[in-house]
Amino acid sequence: MEEYRKVLTNWYNHSKRELPWRGSEDPYQIWVSEVILQQTRISQGTEYYHNFLKSFPDIKSLAMAPEEDVLKVWQGLGYYSRARNMHHAAKTVLSDHKGTFPKDYLSIRKLKGIGDYTAAAISSIAFGLPYAVVDGNVYRVLSRLFGIYTPIDSSAGKKEFYELAQMLLDVTQPGEFNQALMEFGAIQCLPTQPLCDSCPLSLKCHAFTHQNISDFPVKSKLKKQKERFLNYLYLHNGKNLFLKKREEKDIWRNMFQFPLIETTSRTTPEEFFESSDWKDLFKNHSITIESIFPERVHLLTHQRLYIRFYSVKLEENGSPEHLIRIEMDEISKYPVPKPIELFLLENGH
Ligand code: ADE
Repeated sequence: MEEYRKVLTNWYNHSKRELPWRGSEDPYQIWVSEVILQQTRISQGTEYYHNFLKSFPDIKSLAMAPEEDVLKVWQGLGYYSRARNMHHAAKTVLSDHKGTFPKDYLSIRKLKGIGDYTAAAISSIAFGLPYAVVDGNVYRVLSRLFGIYTPIDSSAGKKEFYELAQMLLDVTQPGEFNQALMEFGAIQCLPTQPLCDSCPLSLKCHAFTHQNISDFPVKSKLKKQKERFLNYLYLHNGKNLFLKKREEKDIWRNMFQFPLIETTSRTTPEEFFESSDWKDLFKNHSITIESIFPERVHLLTHQRLYIRFYSVKLEENGSPEHLIRIEMDEISKYPVPKPIELFLLENGH
């Protein structure tokens, strides 16, 4: 283990990227960066990191902010529960820890949205505590180096990889070492075309020496993508736009969107206008259908969304029930899902 440790640390000291949160020991900043980096590429995450800290420079400002402001800064990043959970956790730090980020692993782990990975990252990087991180990079690197065939999405696999990462951890500098292993996965031991020719560990790597790199990491199941069919109504009266807040426990919770009719299968516009949901929505209202946009696809990690926008003009002064009426140019103040943001951009908002 000592040899692997030395090589990885040395590699990191020479090859690491300069990133805005590197060198920080502020648990709040580390927390923000690690949450943003889950499911987000560094190039995109960096901009959001700066914007987030500009809007909420410390934990107190985050805790005191309205949820809508937090979602607005997060807009476009996806996985909005990350933002809602951070907001919730910031309030907990204020109420239960007098506004100071807790310094022990178990208290950190208890905060909303902070799982094993984030708790280990904050504990080690901010406080020098000996907790190994295991993210997708670490699974890949360790499975290749040590030739581990146990599926990473099984409970036996999780346990095995955690124990191995913990054994490998350099407890004299756990924060640096954790980042070295993740960084190694991110820029050297790449998912499809790892840079084995320049790798300082290739001769000690099980997968390289057995020429079976693409077998690792092993996964047990293929996640099936769920298909959904969303019909969004860009409903306006020439001056006002009508929105609805998403309150269901689902994607984009608490964000604002156009009135939505979700169907269980793909519908043609003719079928759609015959549906009871459409008829119910406008039964007491006078409208004109202005345009029907072509279907577009929006991909999330586990969902494939087929989306069609309909532009509908309301030919009267009132507001349909349950909808929020706003001025057209106020829309930029509201946190909206990515496909709506794109639609607005394409249509001159
Ligand atoms: N990926 C997520 N967090 C990281 C970090 N701190 N260093 C390198 N890669 C990362």
